[in-house]
Amino acid sequence: MRVCVVGSGGREHALADVLGRSAEVVVTPGSPGIPGSVPDAPESIDADLYVIGPEAPLVDGLADRLRAEGRLVFGPGADGARLEGSKAWMKEVVSAAGVPTAEHATFTEVDPALAHLDSLSAPYVLKTDGLAAGKGVLVTESLAEARDGVAEYLSGAAFGDAGRTLVIEEGLVGPELSVLAVCDGHRAVALAPAQDFKRVGDGDAGPNTGGMGAYSPVGIADGDVVDDVLDRFVQPTIDELRRRGIDYRGVLYAGLMFTPNGPRLIEFNVRFGDPETQVVLPRLSSDLSVLLAQAAAGHIEHTPTFVDDAQVTVVLASEGYPASPRTGDVITGLDAARALDGVSVFCAGVRAGADGELLTAGGRVLNVCGRGATVAEARSRAYAGVAEISWPGMHFRTDIAGS
Ligand code: AMP
Ligand code: GLY
Repeated sequence: MRVCVVGSGGREHALADVLGRSAEVVVTPGSPGIPGSVPDAPESIDADLYVIGPEAPLVDGLADRLRAEGRLVFGPGADGARLEGSKAWMKEVVSAAGVPTAEHATFTEVDPALAHLDSLSAPYVLKTDGLAAGKGVLVTESLAEARDGVAEYLSGAAFGDAGRTLVIEEGLVGPELSVLAVCDGHRAVALAPAQDFKRVGDGDAGPNTGGMGAYSPVGIADGDVVDDVLDRFVQPTIDELRRRGIDYRGVLYAGLMFTPNGPRLIEFNVRFGDPETQVVLPRLSSDLSVLLAQAAAGHIEHTPTFVDDAQVTVVLASEGYPASPRTGDVITGLDAARALDGVSVFCAGVRAGADGELLTAGGRVLNVCGRGATVAEARSRAYAGVAEISWPGMHFRTDIAGS
């Protein structure tokens, strides 16, 4: 099978790597750090299966355009991708589906938004309605900061048009879990759960990012938890989408919080998580290309299986990430890290310099992964890999998968 992966980040590098166990893989546009990268547009690449990585091309209808040409595509059309493209619409769909989620209200005007905020208790949660690369969420204990945020979101100053419709949510507290469900339009199978670290700094300090690290397996998520997530969160959503005429074939990523009142949905994403994918897919012991092709064709017959080994990834980020990452710094030590036992590195944001050296080209630059018999062993291998790599201003969390 020939598979075309669309995207250029660490998630797509991991997808290409794991699909490459059984398929021929091309990645577009990819990057100089991802083997098999080609500059051609997806439409001009001949493949048996197209796997679309990021949310933006999904929201923009790339899956629809490829399907209209009769191609087999893993990834929802623009209709289903609205689950991530509009948080307000997502909330409406999951309410109709009866999925347990945080209470919310949607605003376009400052005064009613402030009045609503004043009626809530901490933590205060503001979200852009539209896409903001994982950064459009403010969670704060401070009412004053949340009130300031309302004006910054609604004026467009903070996130442009994405924030002009503002979602204010009930603040939930508890451990988080990411469950990636592979859907065929009718039903879903779950991949092994992962835990993501969203804040930029150690101890969950600082602003939200796209994710600074992840690990799998996760202690709080045994088989019953995953079955419960499929039964009460994923399947009702697929059924509700079908009722609305939406044939959802792709990943439905459930971001959950385990509150004292039970699990609650925080978000649905319409694609593989980044960096969760970098810890979930390498643990797969069954064939990914077969699973994704079956889902894309509308009938999953395959149950994914996973090795017991743990996988931890640490994201290495550029100076200034997430607010204003600096790019163009020379990366050193990649080969030395990859030479270590149990260490692999996925490239998230790199480009080639004039002499073929790798330069930083984004906020999240590399995902250094460790594999081991336990999460602790995988973690120490990941950090041994991190210790080999550097560039000016590189930063990372030191507490990924720490106890
Ligand atoms: P999201 O992009 O919606 O997943 O939000 C990013 C992060 O903000 C989540 O991983 C949570 O840590 C936090 N968050 C989102 N919604 C809530 C909520 N309702 N209550 C508390 N924390 C939240
Ligand atoms: N790691 C969070 C996300 O992919 O949205």
